[in-house]
Amino acid sequence: MSRILVTGSSGRLGRSVVAVLGQRGHEVIEVDLTVPNAESAGAGTSAQQIAADLTDATQASAVLEQTKPDAVIHLAAIAVPFSAPEQHILRTNASLAYNVMQAAVDAGVRKIVTASSPTVFGYGAPEGWLPERLPLDEDVAPRPWNAYALSKLVAERTAQMFAAQCGDRVRLAAFRPCYVIAPEEWEGAPTQQGHTILERLDDPALSAPALFNYVDARDVGVFLDTLLAGIGDIPNAQTFMVGAADALARRPLAELLPQFIPGTESLAAGLTGTQPAFSIEKARRLLGWEPEHDWRSVLSEVSTHTLAGGA
Ligand SMILES: NC(=O)c1ccc[n+]([C@@H]2O[C@H](COP(=O)([O-])OP(=O)(O)OC[C@H]3O[C@@H](n4cnc5c(N)ncnc54)[C@H](O)[C@@H]3O)[C@@H](O)[C@H]2O)c1
Repeated sequence: MSRILVTGSSGRLGRSVVAVLGQRGHEVIEVDLTVPNAESAGAGTSAQQIAADLTDATQASAVLEQTKPDAVIHLAAIAVPFSAPEQHILRTNASLAYNVMQAAVDAGVRKIVTASSPTVFGYGAPEGWLPERLPLDEDVAPRPWNAYALSKLVAERTAQMFAAQCGDRVRLAAFRPCYVIAPEEWEGAPTQQGHTILERLDDPALSAPALFNYVDARDVGVFLDTLLAGIGDIPNAQTFMVGAADALARRPLAELLPQFIPGTESLAAGLTGTQPAFSIEKARRLLGWEPEHDWRSVLSEVSTHTLAGGA
């Protein structure tokens, strides 16, 4: 059992991460701009809830000094590209990553993990984008084309900077979660871009901008627990892709990708069956992590429940 501080704990991903870590016996400290009050649904899994603006370095330091957790998982961010002016997204996300990691290092925290994003690969660039290979893995060079993607690359590099500064005394890592699906979204709640899962499956044009990637938020929670358990046994400052084992698509990406990204015919030819455009082999190989949820099984469970409930 560890004391784990989670920033951005009230968010789409944070809520599931807090729940999973709590279920796995950890003492969780939630930090966000606003935190649920003790009476609200879902509260009670965490040991402590702290409201703070972590773009303020003084508040970030105070939170870490006051709590001194064993580990920090930094999720807080403006999480949607172009949802605010570009300068504001870059400034906010870069200062959040820097302040939280600096405060954690200063408070003697030994394990720090920060959220990045697959958008660092640069897909969707208005002037065109072709990957050097498919599936994309952590060794493919990042080519961010907007402030959000750049800010996530800054978060990865900030983790590497503190590893260079502190050596193996502090263990750091970054992870790139694919398009996060929270548990209620399987039941029909809108996903981050506003569409339901079924709408994204029925209209491939909706899922194509993210290259049909997705991950169940609970699988990210298990990934983070696994990463924190093993972080001392892997090289410092690693970055991991965290996605489902399949693509969020009804047809193979070898067919779909060339329709939406002309020029990918030969690159995508190997993405047959249900194979996704992002590789999670590194997380499998270094950590032994495997996602437990895939859209076909979860949606069939949901429809079975719905039918049983309606009978
Ligand atoms: N949702 C996805 O599909 C996805 C994909 C890739 C990466 N990510 C990354 O994962 C992380 C979590 O994403 P999410 O979908 O849960 O986002 P979200 O917007 O639902 O949650 C982010 C949380 O951060 C908090 N926050 C923002 N500014 C803050 C500040 N100044 N101080 C304290 N808290 C602050 C917000 O209040 C919010 O609760 C983010 O870093 C995001 O960039 C998300």
